[in-house]
Amino acid sequence: MSEVARLELDGKIYELPVITGSENEKAIDISKLRDLTGYITLDSGYKNTGATKSAITFLDGEEGVLHYRGYSIEQLASKASFVEVSYLLIYGELPTHDELDDFEKSIKKHTLVSEDMKQFFEAYPAKAHPMGVLSSMISSLSTFYPESLDPNRSKEAKNLTIHRLIAKLPTLAAWSFKNSLSHPFMYPRNEFDYCENFLYMMFAMPTEEYKVHPVVVEALNTLLILHADHEQNCSTSTVRIVGSSQANLYSTVSAGISALWGPLHGGANQEVIEMLEQINNDGGNVDKWVAKAKDKADPFRLMGFGHRVYKNFDPRANIIKKACDDVLEKLNINDPLLAIAKKLEKVALEDEYFKERNLYPNVDFYSGIIYKALGIPTEMFTVMFALGRLPGWIAQWKEMTENKEPIGRPRQVYVGHTSREYIDISKR
Ligand code: CMC
Repeated sequence: MSEVARLELDGKIYELPVITGSENEKAIDISKLRDLTGYITLDSGYKNTGATKSAITFLDGEEGVLHYRGYSIEQLASKASFVEVSYLLIYGELPTHDELDDFEKSIKKHTLVSEDMKQFFEAYPAKAHPMGVLSSMISSLSTFYPESLDPNRSKEAKNLTIHRLIAKLPTLAAWSFKNSLSHPFMYPRNEFDYCENFLYMMFAMPTEEYKVHPVVVEALNTLLILHADHEQNCSTSTVRIVGSSQANLYSTVSAGISALWGPLHGGANQEVIEMLEQINNDGGNVDKWVAKAKDKADPFRLMGFGHRVYKNFDPRANIIKKACDDVLEKLNINDPLLAIAKKLEKVALEDEYFKERNLYPNVDFYSGIIYKALGIPTEMFTVMFALGRLPGWIAQWKEMTENKEPIGRPRQVYVGHTSREYIDISKR
């Protein structure tokens, strides 16, 4: 007999089905609750609400486990390429040699963007944040490919939109950086792989030859894999909810980019570096800043610390911390911010406030130090997160559309005025 949960309400007992996931995760299916009882559930911030059944990413926040399609993040980060992981997330299996070759070729075919898009860049103010530029540019792609407006077309048409998006996002991201410097745009070079090509478009100049350091390419590949998916986080839930209205993929992902930008989500990587710089400029007194983070009257939080679902360590942070040491050593960089970050981590992890609340460094704590070492400017950090998260957003959108999930539309408990009479303006 299948498992049920019993709920007692107004003296009546209701049986609700229990759903068990493949990793033994349990959920009470409340989809019929309102029909049965007249009640809804209330869960601000969706802290305890499963919005979907998904076969893409498994995360055990208590044990610090993260798997993409069953493969551990540790194995993928050390053995796979970002494009291979993108294929795995989107299509469900690791690609064969031929499948990977076809996928890479298809992406390379679409790396250019319409010349008309260059005019958009010119219209932005010089100080425009690249995340604002990127989200607008990605939504604008829908105007160049109107056939993408119907997300339910053939499998081939859907794949074309997906490949175009994966191909063009690095070009638009790198151009948003070039534009902020008023430097000439560098066109994609398809003899390079995905990460090399992005670095080339970011850092090459037409006046001189540019050679990408292999350590930099490897580090970028690892960082992008670590960011590639993270189940139903804020931006991914945004993607699923926007996509559920059958908006096109470009606009849907643009909404995900906007959600990612916030400092409590992907924007934290920029905030971490700015915080470390502030602590450094303030004399490096880590204890003072830990005390500020604990003080409820002070709005300051330790950026890069804490996570909604990880109540042990964030496995991505462990990999990034090691990669950080490795990259700085190989590139012969001595960054004082790394020493501050390590001291901050040590002090916080030994502090009762952080221990009681299970607050550990998250993926954003050390990633900024690596990006800085790779020469990526601070304002571009969240764009790097978007570049990494793109295959996850696409995979989640594809799963949602293929499962024909209904439009996302939560309910509410109304706490405003009850019905009242209109008062004429002369009497107010
Ligand atoms: N510094 C100080 N106190 C904190 C922090 C922090 N970074 N994070 C949480 N707390 C405290 C919080 O004040 C609360 O204390 P109390 O129980 O006394 O009220 C308790 O810990 C629980 O925090 P919460 O805000 O209720 O937890 P949440 O699950 O709603 O928020 C979070 C998760 C990530 C938004 C939060 O930990 C935070 O603001 N961290 C800093 C921003 C950050 O690093 N974000 C990146 C997340 S990882 C990348 C991604 O996937 O987006």
